[in-house]
Amino acid sequence: MKRLIFLTVLVFTIVSLHAKPFFKGQKEYLRECRSCHGSSQFFIGKFTPERWKELLRDKGKKLAFNHIQTKNSVEYFQSEQYLKRIQYIEAYVDYYFKKAQKHSQ
Ligand code: HEC
Repeated sequence: MKRLIFLTVLVFTIVSLHAKPFFKGQKEYLRECRSCHGSSQFFIGKFTPERWKELLRDKGKKLAFNHIQTKNSVEYFQSEQYLKRIQYIEAYVDYYFKKAQKHSQ
């Protein structure tokens, strides 16, 4: 019985760890991007996966550069928080396109 409980806990831990990155990315989007870009459901799909990849490469260097250039949300795009969490945004974008692909089949 103890063993079963242990295994159940283990499985749930693994599953929730797996689910985390894109959840965190969604949260980050809601907090930091939505005020300007609106719902992620519409916004992410406005760009191709290749364009997103390009923008998010090297810790979102290009995305940050473009926002700083146009003076949009400069403080956030220069912050440590951005560098730390851009990986979650990336996970969220990935998840979005995977889901979109599934629906179109
Ligand atoms: C203060 C407002 C603001 C915030 C906050 C903001 N953006 Fe933007 N973003 C803009 C504007 C305005 C543009 C259009 C700039 C242009 O036309 O060159 C833009 C452009 C973009 C583009 C297109 C860039 C390109 O070069 O093709 C993407 C993708 C994007 N933003 C993603 C994000 C993400 C992801 C976040 C959150 C991490 C975010 N933005 C936060 C204002 C904002």
